Amino acid sequence: MADLRALQNEVSSKIKEAQSAKAIEEIRIAFLGRKGKIANLFGAIGSLTPDRRKQFGHDLNELKSFIESNLTEKLKSLSSESKGEDPYFDPTLPGVSPRVGRLHPITQTIREISDIFVRLGFEVVDGEEIETEFHNFTALHIPLDHPSRDAFDTFYTDSGYLLRSQTSTVQIRQMKKRKPPLRIIAPGKVYRPDAVDASHSFMFHQIEGLMVDKSTAFSDLKGIIHLFLRTLFGKKVQMRFRPHFFPFTEPSVEVDVSWGKGWLELLGAGEVHPSVLSAVGYSPNRVQGFAFGLGVERIAMLKYGIHDIRLFFENDLRFLRQF
Ligand code: DAH
Repeated sequence: MADLRALQNEVSSKIKEAQSAKAIEEIRIAFLGRKGKIANLFGAIGSLTPDRRKQFGHDLNELKSFIESNLTEKLKSLSSESKGEDPYFDPTLPGVSPRVGRLHPITQTIREISDIFVRLGFEVVDGEEIETEFHNFTALHIPLDHPSRDAFDTFYTDSGYLLRSQTSTVQIRQMKKRKPPLRIIAPGKVYRPDAVDASHSFMFHQIEGLMVDKSTAFSDLKGIIHLFLRTLFGKKVQMRFRPHFFPFTEPSVEVDVSWGKGWLELLGAGEVHPSVLSAVGYSPNRVQGFAFGLGVERIAMLKYGIHDIRLFFENDLRFLRQF
């Protein structure tokens, strides 16, 4: 018994000291091998008195499995410590590079357009998407019988609100809470109950612009829009102001662009209607302003050659990764 205890201590401390798989293997051979210490002891069982054989055999078996499990455990802990020395590990293989995210093409377009106006002294502001009829229509001088007020053209809530159908609402919100002069642009989502197809979506983005000062003439509007379009599309772009009607501006225009072949309608603009200035408590006799509104998707589609607006909203990474 004492011999076995000593043997157990001996093997324990050897396992503790072992620092390699090779050392572990040497211990295994010395103790558990065919000619090892344990085998020798088993061989000696015959020399014991029959009444001691059973106990000794039992103890010996226990010691044997004690050594086996300690060797296996030590081998495991050695191999997890020395991963770097794994002969199958090739440090020259390329690593797994993390996927880098990017901004959505609509966000990129909004930022690019905003940057141009920020350099011209405009401030980027936010507005609410759930609005009142006052901000979306009435204050913008849109008459009660105007078709855009119809439930076919605007989403209404049961509680008397609506999802804004244009970012022009932000003109009203900003003028109500600030005094002129002001120069703002307001990017954001707008909603219209349109059937979805390649060029329509029930939700899309607009950027509204507004400048109000003592004298903010139509020629100022024209100069700013021209500068904006040349910065966004390059010096080769041509621009045309085409007379149009919007309830909240007078005179009103639609601005078209061209690269030589045909004209593309790009944005609406005009001089802020006196009724709009009055609706927010500004005096039309003291201040004057211009406003414009553009569709972000339309510009992004033009810029990147995209032919279906739905691609922006389907979250297909194969599409989004291209930007
Ligand atoms: N709100 C108009 C629309 O959604 C766009 C627009 C036109 C905005 C003329 C303006 C403007 O500020 O002056 O179609």
